[in-house]
Formats: sequence, structure tokens, C-alpha cells
Amino acid sequence: MLTRRRFLTYLGLGTYGLMQANAAAMEKAIFPLPRKHSDWSPPFRPIQPTNADALTLPPGFKAEIVCSFGDALGSHGPLGPETFGYDNDFLAYFPIDCLQGGCNQNEGLLWVNHESANPLFVSKYVSGTVKTAAQVMAEKRAVGGSVVHVRREGGRWVHVPGSRWTRRFTALYPEISLTGPVAARVPRATGTLANCSGGRTPWFTALSCEENYMDFNADSGDGEYKEGLRWASVPGQAINEEGYGWVVEIDPFGELPPLKHSALGRFAHENTAMRLGPSGRLVVYMGDDCPDQYLYKFVSSEQLDRNAPRTEQRKVLSAGTLYAADFAQGRWLPLDFARNRSLASAGFKDQADVLMRCREAAAAIKATPIDRPEDCEVHPLDGALYVALTNNKKHGNLFGQIVRLLEDDDNPEGESFRFELLLAGGPQTGLACPDNLCFDRQGNLWVACDMSSSAIGKGAYRSFGNNGFFMVPTRGPAAGEAYQFASGPIDAELTGPWFIESGDTLFLSVQHPGAQSPSIEAPTSRWPDGGSSLPRPCVVAITGF
Ligand code: FEO
Ligand code: CA
Ligand code: CA
Ligand code: CA
Repeated sequence: MLTRRRFLTYLGLGTYGLMQANAAAMEKAIFPLPRKHSDWSPPFRPIQPTNADALTLPPGFKAEIVCSFGDALGSHGPLGPETFGYDNDFLAYFPIDCLQGGCNQNEGLLWVNHESANPLFVSKYVSGTVKTAAQVMAEKRAVGGSVVHVRREGGRWVHVPGSRWTRRFTALYPEISLTGPVAARVPRATGTLANCSGGRTPWFTALSCEENYMDFNADSGDGEYKEGLRWASVPGQAINEEGYGWVVEIDPFGELPPLKHSALGRFAHENTAMRLGPSGRLVVYMGDDCPDQYLYKFVSSEQLDRNAPRTEQRKVLSAGTLYAADFAQGRWLPLDFARNRSLASAGFKDQADVLMRCREAAAAIKATPIDRPEDCEVHPLDGALYVALTNNKKHGNLFGQIVRLLEDDDNPEGESFRFELLLAGGPQTGLACPDNLCFDRQGNLWVACDMSSSAIGKGAYRSFGNNGFFMVPTRGPAAGEAYQFASGPIDAELTGPWFIESGDTLFLSVQHPGAQSPSIEAPTSRWPDGGSSLPRPCVVAITGF
């Protein structure tokens, strides 16, 4: 075999003819670059990239389906019996006794985001036809989120239908009030949609992030379904977009009404990552999933009193300072109409106007446009912020990167920071287009990748197989190396990873299998049931850790 070293020797001897004769062998020898190999081994045998129509895991691990699209939830909403929605994304586990100070690891509530609805499988809409009101209604009922009650029975996680907590949030209900500066202008919104990723607050509510809200009225979209959901094409079905693009707070236990917190701004919210500052203020980091958009952080005006009733604790999300990141200067720039005069000069009328139009406001104060900020997460051991920049095809960044941001003086309430690169996506790391992040108890970062389903297996993405899920140590000799743990079914994306506190279970969403299907008759995936079945997004519980 022609090794890389021998290949270089040939170059030195000028044996170009030999190079041509052995071109295939040489390509194998020089591409991809050898991975950096430390002596460290992950606690599983890494899998190889694959294009199999399966959820592939290392030996010794097991995935069991907890809920799938269309499952009867056993609950009744304003429109009748409720079913599990489409395109499950963010997941958060709430121990069933967490409000009493417990941390039950065998029974809890799962909050599940439903980001979008593939018209082909949800409403049987066929591209190029006229959409009907009934089809829009089916799609509106399939998005939003679900509260499901889960527990271990006989060693496996199961869904408990009809539990007192089970209920749906959709694009049709409930009415959700806004808090903060925009509430006077947009008092409430009907339901929620475009729920991508999120976070769990210290007082045990879910923050659900409304991302590509602009895809629902439109004919074309920025999300997975390029056609858009075309709701505005059907009389009476258009949504008022001012009601969406917010961070929505939901109490899975149903004690507190849902709220949309306008002080956290309006953009294509990916997720929220929270940290308490030294004075007790809540700090929330957020990305805007769009090429050349910004990283934001919110610092609450009030301190969080963990001993106060939950109704009081949640008020920290109603008022505070929103910042956008200037990476060139390592500064957090306040999107504060009273403090930052350049906002008035740029034509903004008041703080509500700034929050409604965050993207324009961040551009006006010269924040740094970055390469599609997806999830960000706070390291559980040292408080550093890890940010997945998924890609930016406008600038030829096809594989993305993960940035580590350190607040100066380790003060997240402060206004300056520095950063470095943990890893660059590409064949040399085996990971392309990082999207959802989570940490395990040891402080290893877990990274779910999101190559768009139309790109998987093609061109520059050929070597990566289907979208995968990777463990990336953040410390020690293997810091920044990626070890593949899972590979998703055809066209799918693995989303919403959530380790329960004990670390023995990973809840994971398998989103949009078969997204590229040209018709019902010819689905590109038949996961999970195989045979002649249609593909279904599912939430799975993975055990074996
Ligand atoms: Fe919905 Fe940014 O992924
Ligand atoms: Ca995402
Ligand atoms: Ca994405
Ligand atoms: Ca995604």
C-alpha cells in the first residue's frame, strides 16, 4: 500500500507517471487526513458512518421508542382527543417529584417540542396542488409541543397515556400572553409553533424556542421543508407573525400559565442556555439560527430568589438587558434603546421596536454576524459556553465549527469575553454541521449533526453517512476529538438530546426521517417499522450507559 510518507517520497523523485497509475490508491492514502488519535478511549466502541435506514448504536446500547407521531395521548384539548405531534425536537426531563425537591430517575414528565410538520405525511398535501383549510388545520395541530408522562416499567421507559399532566400545545391553542416591553403592542399570541430547541429553568419550567416562524405562512422556507407551509395561501389561515419568534415558557406541571418573554428578543430562536451570575441574576445565552446572524445573551434585572414561589422566580425573564456579541472586540453590545444611542439614530422608536426587530438592531450596533449559531450550552463543571456554528454556505463554510466562549473574570453578567475553537467540522473530525448540544455529568460534550437532508451523502458530505451523534471530550488529551455514538435513519436528524441526572438514560428525538420523500407511495425511509410502513418521527430512550 502506498503510505502518505511514500507518496511524499515519490513526489520528491518526480514520479508523476507513477502517481497517475496509482491515483486511486493514492487518494485512499492521502484522503482523509489522519484523525488525531490520543490514547484516550470513549466508554463505547465508536460506530462508522453509515447510510443505513436505522438508528445505529454501538454494541451494548439499546434504543426503545417512547412516543411517535400520531400516538394517542389519552388527553382532550379544545379540539378533542390529542395526539403526539410531528418533528419532535427539544426534550427536557422533569423528575416527577422535582417541585417537592426530589429527583426521581424512574418517573417524570417529558416536554417535547414539535418543530414543524412535513405536509406529505401530516396533511397529505401534494406539492403543486391548492392547499385546503383542513390540511392547514392538520398541520397546525401537529406543531407546538407535548407534555408526556414517562416511567420505567420492567426496565424500559414507557409513555403513560392520559396522565393528569398530559397535554398538547399547538398552533391553535392555548392563547399565550407576552411579558416584557412588547406586551403593550402584542399582548398575546395564539399557541406556539416552530419550536426548535430550548432549556429547563432552575424553577422547573421548559423554555421552548420559536425558530423558523417565517416558514409557516410562506411559500418557501429556511427550515427542513424548502417549500414552506403556505398557510397564508388559504383564506383565514394566515398567522400573525408578530406573535411568534419568541422564547415561550411552559410549566409541564400546569401550575403556571404559559408566557412568551419578549425581553429575550424576537428572532429565529434556537435554544436557551442558562447560568446564574455572581450577583444572582439569571443569564440566558441564545443563538439565531440563520447565516450571518448573531449570538445573544440576556441578563435579568432582578436576582433569582430560589426560595421564592415559582410565580415570583419566573419574573426574572420579564425584564433585563439583551446583548449581541461582538466577537472582534470580545464585547457584549447592549440592545438597550435608552443606553445605546446608535439604535435611535438607526431609526428604532423604542425598546419594543428593538426587541421586535432584533436582527436589524444587532446589525445597527455592529455585532458580529456568525455562521448560523445553533445550540449553545454551558459546561456543567466550569461555566464556559459552547456554541455550535452549524455552517454558512454563503461563505463556503460547509462543515461548521464549535466555539468555546469564556466570560472575562468568569462573570456572565459582565460585558467582555474571549473565545477559541474547540473543533472544526470536516472529514478530519468525522463530524459535519453541529447543531444540538448537551453535556454529560463528566463534562463531555455530545453533538448532534444537521446536514440538511437534501445534502446527505452527496458532494462534500459524501463521507459522513447519515446525520450522526458524537461524543466530544472537552478536557484532557482527547479534547476536541469526535467519537461517533449514533447514526440516524435516512434523511433524519437526531435532536433534543437529554441525559437524565443519573446519566443512565439518554432521551433522543429522531426528527424528519424520510424528509426527502417525493410521494407517499415512495418514501425514502421506512423507519422505524420497516416493511411497507411510512416513516415516523419518534422519541427514543437510549440505555446502556
Ligand atoms: Fe431547528 Fe436550528 O434547528
Ligand atoms: Ca437545532
Ligand atoms: Ca439545524
Ligand atoms: Ca435542526
